[in-house]
Amino acid sequence: MIHVGFFISFEGVEGCGKTTQIKLLSELLAARGITTVLTREPGGCPIADKIRTILLDAENRALSPLAELMLYAAARTQHVTEVISPALTAGKVVLCDRFCDATVAYQSFGRGIDRSVIDNLNKHACQGVSPDLTVLVDCDPAVGLERARMRIEATSGPREERFELETLAFHQRVRSGYQQLAAQEPDRFMVVSGSGSIEEIFSTISSQVVVRIPEVLRAIC
Ligand code: TMP
Repeated sequence: MIHVGFFISFEGVEGCGKTTQIKLLSELLAARGITTVLTREPGGCPIADKIRTILLDAENRALSPLAELMLYAAARTQHVTEVISPALTAGKVVLCDRFCDATVAYQSFGRGIDRSVIDNLNKHACQGVSPDLTVLVDCDPAVGLERARMRIEATSGPREERFELETLAFHQRVRSGYQQLAAQEPDRFMVVSGSGSIEEIFSTISSQVVVRIPEVLRAIC
């Protein structure tokens, strides 16, 4: 299948601020006449949202690392089939809050699952789709976790905190994993420090993203 749209993923540790930034980017692009599909993983469509509930429920502490990996892969397969692939084929800009790099960072660097198993599953789940640009909001996990825990306390409804309950050492491995992925693919990754204000971080992201979006899409700004 030929993808003609543009695919941007956002990544980072818990509480790094990527969800705020991806929303701001979607609003900016919409204001400039670029249609975006704003989505997230795990989730993004009804079946994957159900899988998300299982994955993030803190009561599911017994979930084995391999079962967890396969649930992420199942959710991604459905999401790519139903949402991402059709949107790219229709020429849209897709903004996704986490994608395949999260599985490498969390399930391989974090949990210690063999990288080849993850790469193989990701290959099947992604079905030829890969981000054109990945924004990594880099943040000290100690700071991010504090922010994420405060947000959970302030939110009503299901407590999506299975990962927030992991140790600081786990989140430090995840951060290091993301940094290594970014170093391996400098053309795809844009690394932005998450330690500034929301406005400062967004100013860096927006100025660089607009340059990276292909001419054909920028022309309609
Ligand atoms: P979120 O808090 O950014 O919505 O992400 C949900 C959690 O799922 C977060 O703790 C990271 C984790 N995750 C993985 O472990 N592997 C994955 O492949 C994805 C997409 C997310």
